[in-house]
Amino acid sequence: MKQIVADAAIKEVKSNMILGLGSGSTAALMIKSLADEIRSGKLENIRGVATSFQSEVLALELDIPILDLSSVAKIDLAIDGADEVDPRFQLIKGGGACHVREKLVASKADKLLIVVDETKLVQNLNQSFPLPVEVLPSAWKQVKDVITAMNGSSTLRMAAKKAGPVVTDQGNLILDIMFKDGIKNPKEIEKNINNIPGVLENGLFVDLADKVLVGKIENTNPVVYSPSKVG
Ligand code: 5RP
Repeated sequence: MKQIVADAAIKEVKSNMILGLGSGSTAALMIKSLADEIRSGKLENIRGVATSFQSEVLALELDIPILDLSSVAKIDLAIDGADEVDPRFQLIKGGGACHVREKLVASKADKLLIVVDETKLVQNLNQSFPLPVEVLPSAWKQVKDVITAMNGSSTLRMAAKKAGPVVTDQGNLILDIMFKDGIKNPKEIEKNINNIPGVLENGLFVDLADKVLVGKIENTNPVVYSPSKVG
């Protein structure tokens, strides 16, 4: 499902575009498909802006030229994955701890295209996937206490093959938050969390996604569709 949705996303790319290159497993497949199109000559003069160390390394290994975020006035199209997508196309991102740069790239893009499999579609955000929040290392406990006071339970994200916490590309830590009733007002929660001293950015992407491509299995065949935004 991830592969066909990644391939479908590349059909939206035109020669001469500056592209935001997302992070995560679906975005990685999209970057590989993009490299194939460039190699075959179907796409020319594509430059990428990476949303993470992961996407930068992958793009450079595949000979996709990379520009610094600060050196571009605008990005034509950003293509990225997501952890949850609600019917209004509000998102939770940051499963790969890359949401700070992902949000910067999405905010500079004319269009944000989200590529997911059907398991990512939800009615309400934060019913099952925790909201990632990047915090300064010295502030994680203080931020956690404020989140507890907001009726959220949070855990410091731990690394898989290293003792201790996940350290982001910016050198910070991640708190993963669950609210008891989920997130029904993403705009307000996004602002309130970013207002806590010591918080760099949270993974709520509000009113940023323009289009969502969804991969699903239908009668044992993988298919892609694009749902309409509700509201
Ligand atoms: C990384 C992200 C990813 O886009 C999100 O976690 C989805 O990843 P995947 O495509 O591997 O399911 O936000 O910070």
